Amino acid sequence: MCGIVGCVLKDDDAAPVLLDSISKLEYRGYDSIGIATATGNTINLKKGAGKIAEVDAELDLADLPGNCGIAHVRWATHGDPSEINSHPHLDENNAIAVVHNGIIENYLAIKEELEKEGHEFKSDTDTEVIPHLLEKFVDEGCDLELALRKTIDIIHGAYAIAAISIKEPNKVVATRKDSPLIVGVGEKEYFVASDFPAILKYTNNIIYLEEGEIVTLTGDGITIKDSEDNILDKEVDVIDWSPEMAQKEGYDHFMIKEIHEQDIAIKNTLAEREIVKKIVDEIKDDINRVAFVACGTSYHASLTGKYLIETLAGIPTEVLLASEFKYSQKSLNDKTLVIFITQSGETADTLKALDVANETSKTLAIVNVAGSSATRKAQYVIQTQAGPEIGVAATKTYVSQLASIYLFAALLADNKELLEKLDKVPDYINEVLENEDKIKDISRKYRFARDFFYIGRGYSYPIALEGALKLKEITYIHGEGYAAGELKHGPIALIDDGIPVVAILPPGDDHKKTMSNLEEVQARGADVLGIGSYGDEDLITKAQDTFLINSEVDDIIAPLVYIVPLQILSYYVAVARDLDPDKPKNLAKCVTVE
Ligand code: F6R
Repeated sequence: MCGIVGCVLKDDDAAPVLLDSISKLEYRGYDSIGIATATGNTINLKKGAGKIAEVDAELDLADLPGNCGIAHVRWATHGDPSEINSHPHLDENNAIAVVHNGIIENYLAIKEELEKEGHEFKSDTDTEVIPHLLEKFVDEGCDLELALRKTIDIIHGAYAIAAISIKEPNKVVATRKDSPLIVGVGEKEYFVASDFPAILKYTNNIIYLEEGEIVTLTGDGITIKDSEDNILDKEVDVIDWSPEMAQKEGYDHFMIKEIHEQDIAIKNTLAEREIVKKIVDEIKDDINRVAFVACGTSYHASLTGKYLIETLAGIPTEVLLASEFKYSQKSLNDKTLVIFITQSGETADTLKALDVANETSKTLAIVNVAGSSATRKAQYVIQTQAGPEIGVAATKTYVSQLASIYLFAALLADNKELLEKLDKVPDYINEVLENEDKIKDISRKYRFARDFFYIGRGYSYPIALEGALKLKEITYIHGEGYAAGELKHGPIALIDDGIPVVAILPPGDDHKKTMSNLEEVQARGADVLGIGSYGDEDLITKAQDTFLINSEVDDIIAPLVYIVPLQILSYYVAVARDLDPDKPKNLAKCVTVE
């Protein structure tokens, strides 16, 4: 949901570094791009609507003078994607430039006030009030830093902001509230950025900025002040992600690279067992109920968590959509453990719910991004070890969330058998990946389909939901996941000749029942792709197409493995339809607005 970068370099021009850094954040927004630098008497600005490569080909974005500047990729909230609405935005005198991620809720009232004072606005964005407020305070005699402090006293909402001014040409000032912003401390370069991948090439030294703190970057270094204007001596963290982790390394897209990294992501996440055990030991005697809260793919991981915790540990568990949480949180108490699943750790709906749950209950966040807001708000944290995920559709972070949830549930229930099974999951995933071409072939057949259905029972039901979500997100084909037994209560009316139905059929007690559902849809003309296990003759004879998986993968651990062919299917259908799976339309990697 928009990406921002700001930097000051000791020796070099900032624009090429800003272009390189902001390109690493394109997963956060790709409807427009802009860069501004400050020199002497001028703000040098280039911006336009479109993907970075398109705008760069037209404008040569790196060709701007000056060793300090700011950059932005946009996911539109206020105003359509156009050059005028793209960031950076300027004040009236073209002396101050601002980039912003988030939403200024009271911008209309501020705009009205500023217009009465004579300010003229060019764009439809909420952001444009910020440079105008900065201008007003600078005109009153403030330096840029003080002007920013006064501005954040006035604006309400979620924001990460970075600003430059021609009056202080070697300086970037920045702040945040409810939107991510990290500070990068290189040897000859200083950064602010929405996320790590932007700066990994230049430094691994990170400072996490807290809400209300203001950071000032200059050629001499970094100063961070709290809301009372005290200079802070903040800890520098070294993050162990490498720049290569955020590159395609020979793959056509990040999505397929990240699908291939799922074995190692799970292995690394399972290696966190001691940390998970410590948390389980601390809370297990003190909870009688669990509630998962999450959005999207993370919600699907949570559904699997419900089946696991209720079945294995016998603790009543519910799953709530984060955006609906406030309508149904009333029964939480101090015996409730509320588990927040979020790969980014910055999803606004999830963070709002986390604040509320912290007041009454124990909170645990399962998060992929170290230092993100969820890790700082939750009472307990489990970090998944997927590494940076750049593809917008969640793949390796999803299976890593599942791995953490399985580990948590197995330790809570003291289920040694499940712990042993989990250790074999990376090998099962590798076997699936070795047969990637089979799915690629099948995907060609379905690339013109209009609707898809996915069905599964029990642990396979969330797989069906997640398979359908992946399809919708990156192929724009309508896909629905259903509990296999539910289909005949209505949705079966939609089944018609040639409609693809993906049936998820791992070995287990309910296999026969789902086979009956498969036959029901076939009888109405459906074209069935069965995802089952080697030796499943019933499925092999009945389904039009099959993809087979190691028969040791039973229904309980199926969510970790059976999702992989479905991710690959969506990927290759998207590629066959000539779409970019890494940057699906209308989506952004990190949803920082409610
Ligand atoms: C789907 C996807 C989204 C996210 C959702 C929650 O591929 O990525 O549905 O799962 O926006 O995001 P996090 O996990 O960052 O809270």
